[in-house]
Amino acid sequence: ATFRVVTIDGPAGAGKSTVARLLAERLGWRFLDTGAMYRVVTLAALRARVDLTDAEALDRLTADLRVSLPPGQVLLHDEDVSRAIRDAAVTEASRFAADCAAVRARLVAWQRAFAEAADTVTEGRDQGTIVFPDAFRKFFVTATEEERSRRRHAELRARGAAVELETVLADQRQRDARDVARAIAPMKPADDAELVDTTGLNIEQVVDLLFHKVGTRP
Ligand code: C5P
Repeated sequence: ATFRVVTIDGPAGAGKSTVARLLAERLGWRFLDTGAMYRVVTLAALRARVDLTDAEALDRLTADLRVSLPPGQVLLHDEDVSRAIRDAAVTEASRFAADCAAVRARLVAWQRAFAEAADTVTEGRDQGTIVFPDAFRKFFVTATEEERSRRRHAELRARGAAVELETVLADQRQRDARDVARAIAPMKPADDAELVDTTGLNIEQVVDLLFHKVGTRP
């Protein structure tokens, strides 16, 4: 059987992972958070003190990683690292894994294998463009820069981080710029992706919107 894939790409802080997870639940499909994979590689590299600019070392490390993504968890060799991969240090350093062609090739193969087993909602930067060009439905989800940084700021505060809104906005701008400028798999909407602006909508409204769009052909 061939399974269906819905791709959700877009910039940091657009609420993609929450929306993608809830959409997958509602459809009864699997959910793939591809950013989590780049984060796990980064966490493992930081722990092993691997030089993040050494592509060969990063590739060897990635080859040896055993990662699984059961619902609600991110397991690295059976350790739940779902909180650890959200650390600011990991977020900041994740661009090295994202810029590394060898790491991307391994993770892309892993992502395609994941979606070969069941209908999947996948979320990231390059899912509609590179990883699943033939996806059943593609979305590029965004919101204004201000709204995205407000959401991210509230999320960090809720987790107890004492961080200023201005700092969140500045970091976000830097990450967006890097994601767009990346030589391989830069963030951009696929030609056949539908743009969804979530400014002013809450999570539930976005999930509703996407759920109905998936149920109707473009
Ligand atoms: O989405 P999230 O913030 O978890 O992504 C973590 C890192 O992985 C970011 O640096 C992002 O650019 C990168 N990434 C990527 N390709 C993806 C998903 C995430 O390069 N498909």
